[in-house]
Formats: sequence, structure tokens, C-alpha cells
Amino acid sequence: MLGRCPVCGEWGTYYEEIVEKGKSKAEGFHSAGSKPQRLHEITAQEEKRLDLHNAELNRVLGGGLVPGSLVLLGGEPGIGKSTLALQVLMQQGERCTLYASGEESAQQIKLRAERLAGKLQNLFLLAETSLERIFEQVRELNPEIVVIDSIQTISTDGLEATIGSLTQVRECAARILQFAKDSNIPFILIGHINKEGALAGPKVLEHIVDTVLQFEGDQNYMYRILRAQKNRFGSTSELGIYEMQQNGLREVTNPSELLLSSASNGLSGVSVAAAVEGARPFLIEVQALVSSAAYGTPQRSSTGFEGRRLNMLLAVLEKRIGFKLLQKDVFLNIAGGLRVNDPAIDLAVLAAVLSSNMDIPLDPDTAITGEVGLAGEIRPVARIEQRIREAQKLGFKRMLIPAGQRLNPKDYKDIQLVEVSKVTDAFRVLIKK
Ligand code: TYD
Ligand code: MG
Repeated sequence: MLGRCPVCGEWGTYYEEIVEKGKSKAEGFHSAGSKPQRLHEITAQEEKRLDLHNAELNRVLGGGLVPGSLVLLGGEPGIGKSTLALQVLMQQGERCTLYASGEESAQQIKLRAERLAGKLQNLFLLAETSLERIFEQVRELNPEIVVIDSIQTISTDGLEATIGSLTQVRECAARILQFAKDSNIPFILIGHINKEGALAGPKVLEHIVDTVLQFEGDQNYMYRILRAQKNRFGSTSELGIYEMQQNGLREVTNPSELLLSSASNGLSGVSVAAAVEGARPFLIEVQALVSSAAYGTPQRSSTGFEGRRLNMLLAVLEKRIGFKLLQKDVFLNIAGGLRVNDPAIDLAVLAAVLSSNMDIPLDPDTAITGEVGLAGEIRPVARIEQRIREAQKLGFKRMLIPAGQRLNPKDYKDIQLVEVSKVTDAFRVLIKK
């Protein structure tokens, strides 16, 4: 064993790998007899999917769970992976399901299940750490869905490697994949990741499994976000939103309601952005605080929005609009603990900064959408119609949108659309009383 890597000088980056002898790489590969086919001769069927009776999870999976697929559900300890998995199985009604856990005893799981809403009748629990014994029970029970909690607590026969080691985790996953494909039973594997975001072990699993779901959230908020990082059966841009409550995870079907707080109406430094994650539009509150730097170097801090992008936007403010931010601290926060990747919230970020800096509240009935370029120009955004419709639905009276997006104004009677092509234009509209 090596403690320190002789190449990069880091400690603890070495893993022991146990290589099994006499096992061919091609084993388990269905290569016999396969021939190339003409594409037009192949009859493709839509993947059959199990509706999990959980709209958020269905959507993130790409429309339900594909039979025989292997899904990895990753997240930090305590975020709610076990709760989500157990709760989803309890929502399956007549379907027979199996929850195999190497983490907790059957009694502990029962206690947890009693807090959650749902049916227990057709849900089987198995406290087990041996993969072979889990397979045995699956064969006997023939459930429609299997959850294994967690991949780090399961071990497979014939491997010397310790439970949770890279070798064990990978070998277990490979065998589960094979089992899932042969039996056509879908498996959901739970995997812990550490604070740095590295899936301890599960990182190596990403190539093996069909779908990688990431469950994340902020310690200070009860919201939990489910994202697909990889999905063989759907897009990776969909988002599922839950709220952790006393009796488990509640599906948040209308995220805007949750992400907009009327408490901050009339305060400076607050703007409302019409964002889209995946195919879903929602309105979010952007909060900025600009204050004189107390110490020499001004601070820039951003939560829920990429820090580098904030710096870029602040540079645009300085260079193109002549704002003096050099001696100012700038703090930015996306309300609700959400992390937003949509560049269309740029303009709302700048509006919040401007509003805080001037200490002038923005009109709470105005929503904003637009990407900002380096020249201070406002660039068109994707899915503009959806954004406007969402703002309209939530009762916004006015919306700033990038100029030149082809729209039929007749479709949007209840909302005034203001086209802006430069950040300065937008500011003029927003600050004018
Ligand atoms: P858990 O599902 O055990 O997390 P993980 O499997 O990702 O480690 O969730 C743990 C947290 O969730 C724990 O702090 C308690 C909280 N919780 C609730 O708030 N409500 C509930 O109904 C349940 C079951 C858990
Ligand atoms: Mg758990």
C-alpha cells in the first residue's frame, strides 16, 4: 500500500484493486451470433416504462422507470435518499417491491416507513449485505422494483476486497447490471457521496449504470432537488423538486410558488427572473446586497449562481455602464437554495445588483428574462414563450424580454412585454418611477 502518490504528492489518493484471475473481460457479453443490421430493418419500440406515481421522479427519469434498467441515486449522507426510495416504493400500490438494506435493520426501516404516507402491503424489506443472498430473494419474490441501500454496504462472493472499496462497489454494480438486464427487473442503487461531491466509489459506477440521479439540497432549506447527471433513457436537464417534511418528501409541483416570497416585496436588491431548467419554467427570486467594502479587498460571494459568471456580469456593469463597484462588496443569492444554470437569469442578477446599489426597490409585478453579453447587450433566450406564460400565470403584469424574439403579442394579452436590447435600456425601464 502506498500512502502518498509519488506523482501528484497527494495523500490518500491510492486505492487497492484486487484483480481476479482467470476471468476473461468478454465474459457476460452477449457477443455470440450478433450481426450488423440495416438501420431501417430494425423495429424500434418505445421503451416501456413504469409509472412510479411520483411525477417529479418520473420526469427526471425521462417518463418513468425503464424495466431492467439500473439507476444510481447519489447524494450526501442525510439528504434524504433512503426516504425518497422507501417512499417511492410505498407509492407503488399493488406492485410487489423489495427494499434491500445493508444500512439499517428491518425494524429501523419499519419505523421510518411508519412516518411516511403510503401502503406497506406489497413492500418487502430485506436487511442484507450479501449480494448473492439479495439475488436469491429477488428470484424467489420476483418483485417489480428493487432498491439496494446502499451500494457501499453490499459485498459479493469471491472478492477479497473490503465492503465499500472501489473493487467491491464496482463488481457489485456490474453484477447487478447483469442481473437487471437478464431479469428485466429495474434496480435503484443508493450511493453516498462526500461533501466534495465525489461519489466515493460511485464515481466509478457512473459508466456502469444507465442513469445517475443526484439528490441535493442545502442544509438551511427543506427543498431537495433531484437531477439526472446521466440518463440513457431521457434528457439530463430535467429537475425534480421536493420538500422534506415531517412525513417525508412532498412533491413540489409548482416551484414558483415556493421560490418566490412575497416577504421581500418592496425591498431593494430583489428581482424576479423567469428561468427554465429542463423543460420546466419557473420564476425565482434573485437577491443582491451591495455594500461598501469594510476591509481592503471587496468580497464577491454567490449562492446558487456561478461565481465566475457573477464576476463577468459585474465587469460588464463597470465597463459598459460605468458603475463603480471596486470598493463594494457584492453578495448574490438565489432564494430557496436553488442552483440555477440558466444564463437567461443574467439580466435579473444585474437588476438586483443595481437595485441594491441604488437602494431603489424594483416593481414586484415585473419579471425579467435575458442573457447578458460582454458588450452589455441582451441576448435572446430559449423557450421564451414558456417563460412568459409562466409569468402570466403567476399574475405578473410586466416582463422584460430580449428584443427581437419572434412572438405573437396576441398570445400574451394579460402581460405587458417590454423588449430591451441593452442593459442600459433595461435599467431605464426598471428604475423609472
Ligand atoms: P435519509 O433518507 O435517512 O437520508 P440519506 O439516506 O440520504 O442518508 O434522511 C435523513 C434526514 O431526513 C434526517 O435528518 C431526518 C429527515 N427526515 C424528515 O425530515 N422527515 C421524514 O419523514 C424522514 C423519514 C426523514
Ligand atoms: Mg440512507
